[in-house]
Amino acid sequence: MKKPCCICIVILVIVVVIAAGIGYAVLRSKNHAKSGDEGKYGDALTVSMQFLDVQKAGKLVNNKISWRGNSALKDGSELKVDLSTGLYDAGDHVKFGFPMAFTATILAWSILEYGESMKKVDQYQPAIDSLRWITDYLVNAHPKDDMLYVQVGDGDADHKCWERPETMSDKRPVSQINKTSPGTDVAAETAAALAAASLVFKKSDDSSYSEELLKHSKQLFSFADKYRGKYSASLPKVQKFYNSTGYMDELLWASAWLYHASSEKTYLEFVTGKAADDIDFDKPTWFSWDNKLPGTEVLLARSSFFDEEAKGNTDIERYKQAAEAIMCNVLPNSPKTTSSKTDGGLIWVTEWNSLQHPVAHAFLANLYGDYMKKSNTKTLDCDGEKFSYDDLRDFAKSQADYVLGENPAKMSYLVGYGDKFPQFVHHRGASIPADDKPSCNEGFRWLESDDPNPNEATGALVGGPYLNETYVDARSNVKQGEPTTYSCALAIALFSSLTTSIDVDKSLS
Ligand SMILES: *[C@@H]1O[C@H](CO)[C@@H](O)[C@H](O)[C@H]1NC(C)=O
Ligand SMILES: *[C@@H]1O[C@H](CO)[C@@H](O)[C@H](O)[C@H]1NC(C)=O
Ligand SMILES: *[C@@H]1O[C@H](CO)[C@@H](O)[C@H](O)[C@H]1NC(C)=O
Repeated sequence: MKKPCCICIVILVIVVVIAAGIGYAVLRSKNHAKSGDEGKYGDALTVSMQFLDVQKAGKLVNNKISWRGNSALKDGSELKVDLSTGLYDAGDHVKFGFPMAFTATILAWSILEYGESMKKVDQYQPAIDSLRWITDYLVNAHPKDDMLYVQVGDGDADHKCWERPETMSDKRPVSQINKTSPGTDVAAETAAALAAASLVFKKSDDSSYSEELLKHSKQLFSFADKYRGKYSASLPKVQKFYNSTGYMDELLWASAWLYHASSEKTYLEFVTGKAADDIDFDKPTWFSWDNKLPGTEVLLARSSFFDEEAKGNTDIERYKQAAEAIMCNVLPNSPKTTSSKTDGGLIWVTEWNSLQHPVAHAFLANLYGDYMKKSNTKTLDCDGEKFSYDDLRDFAKSQADYVLGENPAKMSYLVGYGDKFPQFVHHRGASIPADDKPSCNEGFRWLESDDPNPNEATGALVGGPYLNETYVDARSNVKQGEPTTYSCALAIALFSSLTTSIDVDKSLS
């Protein structure tokens, strides 16, 4: 046997030491990235996801919220439909179909684009479960082709009570739209939600559920298109709560989602046909539960970037231009930057629920930046100034960081995140001790109480700051202190987009 040479051993030892050193450095930098920015957004994502559990109606499965229990078990039973699941809208207990469907669409969109990031922080399955909690409801709400139940509970009656969902005593009337009382906006938004969700369940290997959702989506789209009208004209009582300004945006949005979900050309033809005639593609608008145009524009820009069928189609290119206009509107150094923002740089459009717009547009901006990156598109042109996808990500981070505490009020607007966050959230369930069972009227003493909420509405994104960047933490402050489920979905979308820097998939299916 030959003796191993001394020099060989020395060299071997040196190589091993260097390799270990490099390995250690790589690991360290990886861990550093995780515990730095991306860890922060992953934590925010984990926190915000819990608000969907806080808002769940029906017979709860694997309930993780200690102060929540079963509620609304009989919703829909008078009509022989099971409308017991779904999510309560905000601090009250109405199931408003229009914003609830939007919540599902946004949640599905975030899972499709950023499901891999959700997996990194164990939020993928919770996101799927919460999505299904809504889509089961939406499917049951659509028992016949040209009819859809769009609301359970009455806004006025509900607001006359202050009670826990588990012990609510007021009547739960169900409202519908149909051929004679149409609701194109809500039917189309529901179609969008079910199309987007059908892609999610296809990817997660539940193909029969996916097909069922797609079938309902197509049928709802034709119902919406054939019997046109605003649901808030058919059901005037909703105007005080979710008044719809129009339905063409929802038809285009639903069609764009159906094109992604089915690859059928008719849906592509719809968005490029006369339905798009009245859109001003140069004029950026604000994405919200009422206005789906910006979302449609970014979603169709996706087709322009990645879809061979749609690439080069001049009508689709117009949507991409519109998406660029939206980006140029929010980028802080763009010549076209909006004046709708606070001194601290937060996009600010309305006093009610002010955080919905910055969060929505930060998500769209980061997503659009990811499309640019994936397609090797180096720059975006805003009136001659060039911006990169990193600029879009920086903007998205600036809005997210503001929400999470980097703001003049030095507080987090996400309940359960950071050292200082709102304690008097306008939320019935959170404000009443879990062992109390006040009747409809008795509960108001909890609304009026000077003590902080006994239960934490974890993950609630409150309405947000005023234009002057102040926040009054009072339970009666509905404008600033009431969290909504659709804002929560937008926050989930934003935080999941920032949790890791992954490549988006070229195809959603
Ligand atoms: C259609 O919907 C309207 C509004 O909800 C309702 O008043 C009417 O009874 C419905 N029609 C039928 C045939 O159920
Ligand atoms: C709802 O919007 C319509 C216009 O789309 C308007 O005429 C009506 O006054 C609004 N209702 C409320 C309560 O604001
Ligand atoms: C900030 O704006 C709100 C709403 O407009 C107003 O009520 C409040 O007085 C303002 N606070 C300060 C400090 O200016």
